[in-house]
This record gives sequence, C-alpha cells and structure tokens, in this order.
Amino acid sequence: MLFSALKNNHFVVNYMRMWPYVKPFWFAALLSLLVGIPIGALDSAVALFLKPYTDLVIVGNNAGQAPWYLPFLIVGFTVVQGLLIFASSYLSAYAGGRLNKNVQYTMYEKLLTLDPEYYDKQNSGVILMRFASDSATACNGLLHNLKNLVTRVCSTLALLCVLIYTSWQLAIIAVVILGITVAPLTMVRRLLKKIVKKQVEIGQKVNINYNETYAGNRTILAYNLQETQLGGFKEHLENIFNLGMKMTKRTAWISPFMHFAVSVGVSLTIAYGSWLIVQGDITSGDFVAFLAALLMMYTPIKALGGTITNIQQGFLAIERLHEILETEPKITDRENARSLDGLHSDISFNNVTFAYTENKPVLKNISFTVHKNESLALVGNSGGGKSTIVSLLPRFYDVLEGSVTIDGTDIRDLKIKSLRENISVVFQDNFLFNGTLRENIMYGKQNASEEELRRAVKSAYLDDFAAGLENGLDTEIGERGMLLSGGQKQRVAIARAFLRNAPILILDEATSALDNKSEAIVQQAIENLMKNKTVIIIAHRLSTIKNADKIAFIQEGELAEFGTHDRLMAKPNGLYKQLYELQFKKDSRARSAEMNKEQSPAG
Ligand SMILES: Nc1ncnc2c1ncn2[C@@H]1O[C@H](COP(=O)(O)OP(=O)(O)OP(=O)(O)O)[C@@H](O)[C@H]1O
Ligand SMILES: [Mg+2]
Repeated sequence: MLFSALKNNHFVVNYMRMWPYVKPFWFAALLSLLVGIPIGALDSAVALFLKPYTDLVIVGNNAGQAPWYLPFLIVGFTVVQGLLIFASSYLSAYAGGRLNKNVQYTMYEKLLTLDPEYYDKQNSGVILMRFASDSATACNGLLHNLKNLVTRVCSTLALLCVLIYTSWQLAIIAVVILGITVAPLTMVRRLLKKIVKKQVEIGQKVNINYNETYAGNRTILAYNLQETQLGGFKEHLENIFNLGMKMTKRTAWISPFMHFAVSVGVSLTIAYGSWLIVQGDITSGDFVAFLAALLMMYTPIKALGGTITNIQQGFLAIERLHEILETEPKITDRENARSLDGLHSDISFNNVTFAYTENKPVLKNISFTVHKNESLALVGNSGGGKSTIVSLLPRFYDVLEGSVTIDGTDIRDLKIKSLRENISVVFQDNFLFNGTLRENIMYGKQNASEEELRRAVKSAYLDDFAAGLENGLDTEIGERGMLLSGGQKQRVAIARAFLRNAPILILDEATSALDNKSEAIVQQAIENLMKNKTVIIIAHRLSTIKNADKIAFIQEGELAEFGTHDRLMAKPNGLYKQLYELQFKKDSRARSAEMNKEQSPAG
C-alpha cells in the first residue's frame, strides 16, 4: 500500500519523470544538494561560539580565560562556509545546466518526430514557452531551489538545536511563535497555485501575439489590424498586471506579519530570558547565543516559504514539459517494416477513407491507380480533399480505412524514412529556411555535388536569377524566404525537388496567379521536373491538366470522375466537362486576349 501511495504521489511521479535526464550526472546533482547540509549547519556554529565568549569575556571580564583562537575560529568557519557555498553554486549550475540541455534536446528531438496532427492542434506560443521558460524553471531553477531548501532546512534545524541547547524553556516559546507564523504561509501557497497557472496561460497567449506579429506582418498591415492586435495585447498585459496585483495582495502581508510575529517573539524572549538569567537558570552567554540563533533563524525561515513556492512551480513546469515529452507520435514504423527501393509498378489508393476529426470524413472510399511514370492530375472544388489525398502518400497522416499501396505493399509496412526518400514534394506554399539560396536547395539532397546542384538550378530556371544576385547562390534569402518573390520561391522548391530526384513526385500547384512571364517559367520548370517520374499533381493550370495521363475529379471527398481528358470531355454533363467549360475556356480566352494585346504594337 505504501508503495502504491508513493507511486501515485505527485512529487514522486515528477522525480521519476526527471530521473532519465538527471541520470548521466546524478552524482554532481546529488552532491550539489548535499553540500547544502554543512552550509546550513555551519550557521549554528557562529551562534554557539557567542556563548563562551559572552560568559568568559563580557560577563566574567576575563579575556585570558577565553580561548585565544575563538575569533579565528569564527572567521575560519565562515571561510569554510564560503567555500562550500561556492562549490554548491558551481555544482548546481553545472548539474542544472546539463539537465536543462538534456531536456531541451530531448524535447526538440521529440518535436521533430511528432505528426502534422500534433501541430494542427498545438500552437506555437505554447511550444515556445516550454523552451523559453518552463525548461529552465524545471531544471536549473528546481535544482537551485532544492539546494536552497536543503540549506535552509538544515540551517533552521541546526539553529533550533542551539536554541534547545542554550535554553529549552525559551526554545518552547520560540517554536510556538514559529508555528503560528508558518501556518498561514502554507495556506497562501495553495491560493497562489491557481494564479500561477493563469499566468502561464496568458504568457502563452503573449507568445502567440509576438509570433503573429512576425508571420502575419503583411496581413496586419494590409487589413489595418494594428489596433485589433494591439487591443488583444493590451488585454493580456492588463491580465498579467491584475494577476500580479492579486499575487501581491495575497502575499504582501506576509513580510510585515512575520516582522510583527518575530518582534513579539523577541520581546517575549527578552522578558522571559532576563527572568531566567536572574533566577540563575541560564547564563548570559546562553541568552546571547540563544538570541543570535533566534535572529539568524529568521532569514532561512522567511526564505523557506519562497523556496517551497519555487519548487512547486518547478514541479508544475515539469508537468508541462511532459505534455510534450510524453506525446507519442502516432505515425511510426511497424515492427517488420521494410525499406522501399524505388517504384517499380504502381501506386494505388484502395477504398481510402480518412478524417481529420472523428465522424467527419474528408475522404470517402477513394480508389485509383497511377502506373509508373504516369501523371495523375487531381482537380475539383476548393476544400474537396485534393491536398488531403496527397498528404496520405508520404504518411503525413494515416488512412482511417482502406490502404495506400506502392507496388502492392501497404505503405504502413514500409520504413517511413525510405518511403519519404522516394517522394519529392512541392507544396502549394513552400517553406524556405533561414539561410542562403544554396542551402535551401541543398536540403533536397544534402550531399549533392556542385554539378548536380548546377543542373538543378538550371532546370528550375533559377540560374539567371542567381547570376544576378551579388553573392549568387550564397545570397541570404531571409527568414522564410522573405526576400524572394512568389515565383522564385516556387522555383527554389522545384530545384530542391530536382536535386532529390525521387521517383515519385507530388506537386500541389500554386493557385496564386503569377504574371504570364513567371507563370510560363514556373510551368516550364515543372514540366522539366515531371519528366520520367510518377507524378500526382494538384493542378490548376489548364496545360498541366491536359498534359496529364489521367485526371481525377474530387468532389466533397469522393472520386467523382476518373479518366483521360478526352474521355472525361466525352461525358455529357460530366463534372470535369462543366468545370472545363466554365473555368478553363474562359481562362484561355482571357489569356489569348491578353497575349494578343501584348503582341500588338498598340499594347
Ligand atoms: N489539418 C486539418 N485539420 C482538419 N481539417 C482539415 C485539415 N486540413 C484540411 N482540412 C479540411 O479537409 C477538407 C479538405 O481539405 P483539402 O485541403 O484537402 O482541400 P483541397 O481540395 O486541397 O482544397 P484547395 O483546392 O482549396 O486547396 C476541408 O474541408 C478542410 O477544411
Ligand atoms: Mg489544397
């Protein structure tokens, strides 16, 4: 029973959680705590020395009787204590720093393994907070505060021994007053827990605010959202202020209250102590040592409350860290997963049903096959499920029912890394990393040769652009590729895919209209990329669609039509035919009109 009680104990659970991270340097961590024992205990030595000194020198008026080394001893003890404090600070900074490093590393490693589903639901503010403050609170902070706890408890206990040793009668008074002082503090602590929790929540919201200011900068400007954003921010600041005030209201009385209690205690002690001296029950030395110990006790006891609060905050931070550390990725390798080495025959979707959220199927019973080196164009209305279909192939999500197979093997039986190695993806909105153009392209194949890189750059029609830059391919492109145009960003992504040279290519064609010239370049780059590959392309451009070997029309998550352009056009009142006539004819008329205008000398 004791065991199970321990197992479920809040503190024990949290210690166990941290153990794997502390394990590599547990000795240093333990030592940093143990050093707190002599540091605390040595406080009492100084108080204790005052007894013989007072009795012999001050009262007895006989300096000769006092050991000559007494002052040296006091200095000596203080020096030893100082050295120990240094050692303990060093050790706890070392162990806490290592611990923090371990936790942050493991947490980042975990973040990199988590599925898109996790990121769909989490917000960046929360994650930022885990790294920015929770980790430090749970690691360096907690260890530091545990050390303080050990020091303060030992100091208090040692001084208590001095009290009892010098006068047990006075000690009783002191302990009673102490009890009265400390009792309300534990109550306050419980009230604070709620406030701290709210403070953390608002801190996360503020982080989101900062992030949005970066990522959404242009949207904020374009829609004049400054005031809206500022309003939200002001509210958070207001809330933080109010919580801070609440905290102060609940804690500010503690210090004056303690002063009061201590003054009462000291007065009572002086009164009763004087009487005890007159009665001859204690010596003056006892009394001085007692008073010194009592006053010295004030510091550790007062700090004890804060230390315990900090330790509790450390434990709460551990719990928050473990929300991340204990999240298990859902998409993992099966036990007997095998490697995929290229595509030999076909990719098939077999009665695939999928939902992002329960009971809301986004894909319903979808089946189709793409043969090697064929291209399939996915078309259909916005929100129909096209991007969802292609996200199943690299296993960003797993199917709910049915299966996706490559050469007849369920992709869930393949090693994820090898599966993804065989697929190049050009997204609708491609992410570029902070760094140079070269670095961003090289992400496609990190060990590519200069010649391979050159070819990829050329095939993506980036060579002229790069040549015009001051530092060529080594030009920094800014965070998220801010310094590039939409078409240039796409071509960087295309060059990346070129370099990867995977047999399967997924393309989510950008819907955003580029001007005709960049459009033609991007189009040509895409066509280069598609050569000799098995391609699934979400197509918006008429030329891409017409060039595809097969077309799948996706409507409301269902495969409504499937076939070649000619076959689908032959279907009277077919969905593809309607879409084509409505959108693309109009589109191409507009285009040819524009082309004519450009070509005519008057334009
Ligand atoms: N991460 C997600 N979590 C929950 N629902 C999502 C998620 N992504 C998409 N959906 C929903 O799934 C449906 C299909 O979305 P999907 O992005 O596949 O459409 P699409 O055909 O690619 O549209 P578009 O042509 O506009 O890009 C939509 O109703 C969308 O709201
Ligand atoms: Mg889409």
